[in-house]
Amino acid sequence: MKVFITGGSGFVGSHLADRLLARGDDVLVIDNYATGRKDNLTPREQLKVVEGDIANTSLVNDLVTEFKPDVIVHAAASYKDPEAWQEDINTNVLGTANVVRAAQNSQCKRIIYFQTALCYGVNPTEQPITLDLPLDPANSSYAISKTAGEDFIKISNIEFVSFRLANAYGPRNISGPLPTFYHRLTQNKPCFVMDTRRDFIYIDDMINCVEKAVDGVGAGIFHISSGSDYSIKELFDATLAALDIQLEKDVEVRPRNPDDAFTILLDPSKTNSTFDWKISTPLKDGVANAINYYKEFGIEQTFTHLKNVIEPDVAKAS
Ligand SMILES: NC(=O)c1ccc[n+]([C@@H]2O[C@H](COP(=O)([O-])OP(=O)(O)OC[C@H]3O[C@@H](n4cnc5c(N)ncnc54)[C@H](O)[C@@H]3O)[C@@H](O)[C@H]2O)c1
Repeated sequence: MKVFITGGSGFVGSHLADRLLARGDDVLVIDNYATGRKDNLTPREQLKVVEGDIANTSLVNDLVTEFKPDVIVHAAASYKDPEAWQEDINTNVLGTANVVRAAQNSQCKRIIYFQTALCYGVNPTEQPITLDLPLDPANSSYAISKTAGEDFIKISNIEFVSFRLANAYGPRNISGPLPTFYHRLTQNKPCFVMDTRRDFIYIDDMINCVEKAVDGVGAGIFHISSGSDYSIKELFDATLAALDIQLEKDVEVRPRNPDDAFTILLDPSKTNSTFDWKISTPLKDGVANAINYYKEFGIEQTFTHLKNVIEPDVAKAS
C-alpha cells in the first residue's frame, strides 16, 4: 500500500510508519518538527520524509497528487501552546482542510484521523463516554480546532475513520505526565501529581488497531481506549518502579486545574467488536518500555496542551 502520514515524525505517526514499512508498504511523511523528532524515523528505502507545513496548501496538494496514496493517515496536530490559537487553526483546521482537499483531488479512498477526547469537554456528563455524547469542545484552542478538523473530514465524502483517543503513551511520547515525571525525577527535581485519572493506551496496542483501519476495517468514529482508568499517582508510582527510585516522602497530590478533566473514560465497545481489538499491555510493562526509550534517547522538551500548570515544589526524588 501507499500511505501518506502527516505528522509522521511524531509519536503516533512514527510508530505507524515503522509498522507499515516493516510489512513492505510505501510511506510518505510530512512533518514540520513542531513537536516531532527527526530521530523518530530511521531512513529506509520505502520511506520518504518531507520537511514542511500542512498549512501550505500547494505543498500538500502537490505531494498527495504525485504520491497518490491509497490511504492518508492525518496525525499532524498543533497543541503545544494553549495560547497559540493561530498556530492551532493553521495546522488543525487549515491543515486538515488542505489534507481533505488534496485527498479529493487525488481520489484517495480513505482518511484516518485522530481526535482528542477533550472534544467531549472537561466535565463529560457520562462515564464511560459513549459515541452518542454530544460534543463540547469549547474548553481549549486544541479541542476546538481538532473538532473543526474532524468536521471537515466528515463532510468530505471520503470514507474515514476518526479515532477519539485515550492517553497514548510509550517510547517517543513527549507530551503528558510520563515524560515529565521521567525528566524531573532523573534530574532530581521536585514532582507533584494531579488528582485526576486517565485511560492509558500503550502505543503498540493502539497501532494494532490503527493498522486495521489502514487496511480498510471500520468507517466512522471510534474510541481507542481500554474503558478503565488509572490515577496519575499510579502512573507516577509505575515510573518510580521503572527507575528504581524510592522517594523520601509520598508525592504531593494536587487538585486539578480548571481546564483539566477529572477522568476521561471512553467506551471502547464499538472498537472492540469492529476491529476485533482490545488493549493487552499492562501499565507497568508499557511504562518500563517508555522509560527505556527516554534513557536511550533523552528528552529535549516535553509538551502539554494544558493551561495553568503550576511549578511543582515537593517530593524530592532520591
Ligand atoms: N498521544 C495522544 O495521547 C493523543 C491523544 C489524543 C489525540 N491525539 C492526536 O493524535 C495525533 C498524533 O499525536 P502525537 O501524540 O503523535 O503527537 P506528536 O506531537 O508526537 O505528533 C504530531 C506531529 O505533527 C507534527 N506537526 C505539527 N504541526 C504540523 C504542521 N503544521 N505541519 C506538519 N507537521 C506538523 C509535529 O511536528 C509532530 O511530529 C494528533 O493528531 C493528536 O491530536 C493524540
